[in-house]
Amino acid sequence: MTDAPRPVTPVSLVAVELTDLCRTLDDAAVGPEVAGRLRRVRDLAAGLDPYLDAMTTAPSAALADLETRTRGHVWSDGPLEQEMLSGHLEGWFLRFLVGMTGAQDVLEIGMFTGYSALAMAEEIPRGGRVVACEVDEDVAAFARDRFSASPVGNRIDVRVGPAADTLARAARAGESFDLVFVDADKPGYAQYLDLLLTTDLLRPGGLVVVDNTLMQGEPYCGATTPNGRAIASFNQAVAADPRLEQVLIPLRDGVTLIRRARVRDEPS
Ligand SMILES: C[S@@+](CC[C@H](N)C(=O)[O-])C[C@H]1O[C@@H](n2cnc3c(N)ncnc32)[C@H](O)[C@@H]1O
Repeated sequence: MTDAPRPVTPVSLVAVELTDLCRTLDDAAVGPEVAGRLRRVRDLAAGLDPYLDAMTTAPSAALADLETRTRGHVWSDGPLEQEMLSGHLEGWFLRFLVGMTGAQDVLEIGMFTGYSALAMAEEIPRGGRVVACEVDEDVAAFARDRFSASPVGNRIDVRVGPAADTLARAARAGESFDLVFVDADKPGYAQYLDLLLTTDLLRPGGLVVVDNTLMQGEPYCGATTPNGRAIASFNQAVAADPRLEQVLIPLRDGVTLIRRARVRDEPS
C-alpha cells in the first residue's frame, strides 16, 4: 500500500496543525468559546482543498490515470516523490492560462511524471506544442509512457537533461514560447528567469508561470531550508525588478504570474 501524500502547501499544513490541536483539545481548560472557535478555524482550513477539487471540472481520464499511477509508484529514496505532482486544481488553472492567452508554444521546466505538461497539451490548439524539460531519465520514461496513452500526447516534446542546457540550446536554435511554466529545482529559478528574459525564448507579451512561490510558507515565516531560501530570494528579486510585473496567487503552494512590464500612459 502507498502512503497518502504529505501536506506540502500552506493551507494543508495549517489544516494538519489545527486538526492535531483539536484532537487533543481540552474544552474544560480552554473554555467552550475558544474550543468552538478553534474547531471553526480547523474546518475552514481542512475543508478548503477538498471543496476546491470538488468544484473544479473533473480531469480527463488520461490525467486521472497518470495521477493514480504516480501516487501508486514506489519512489525510492532519491529526490523524486509523489508530492511533486501538481494535480487537478493546478492542472486546470494552467489549462485556463493556456486557453486565455491563446498560447500555441508552451515550455515547461520540470516535468516529473507529466501531469502539468499533459494538462496544458489538452488545451493547446492543434499544431501547438509543449516542450517539457526533465533531468531524470527514468521519470521522463514514465511520462512518455503515459503521453503515448493520451490522444494529445504527441503534442509534447520531452527533452531530457539539465534545463539550463536545454534552454540554452533552444535559444541558440531560435525557438520561442508564449507561455513558460517553471517547476524544476528551486535554486535554478533565478537562472531560468534570466535566460527567458535575456534571450528570445519568451515571446513579446509572453507569460511566465512559476510554481511553489509560497514554498510551504517559508518566504514569509522564515526560510529554514535551501528551497525556502531560494524561493525567498527569487521572490524578492522578482518584486524588485522594474522590468517585470507579477502577481503571486495563493493556489496550492503559490503560483506567480510574471510578464515584462508594460509601458503605460501617465494617469491624467
Ligand atoms: C515539482 S517536479 C515537477 C512537477 C510537474 N510539473 C507536475 O506538474 O507534476 C520537479 C521536476 O523537476 C525536475 N528537475 C529538477 N532539476 C532539474 C533540472 N536542473 N533540469 C530539469 N529538470 C529538473 C525533477 O527531476 C522533477 O521531476
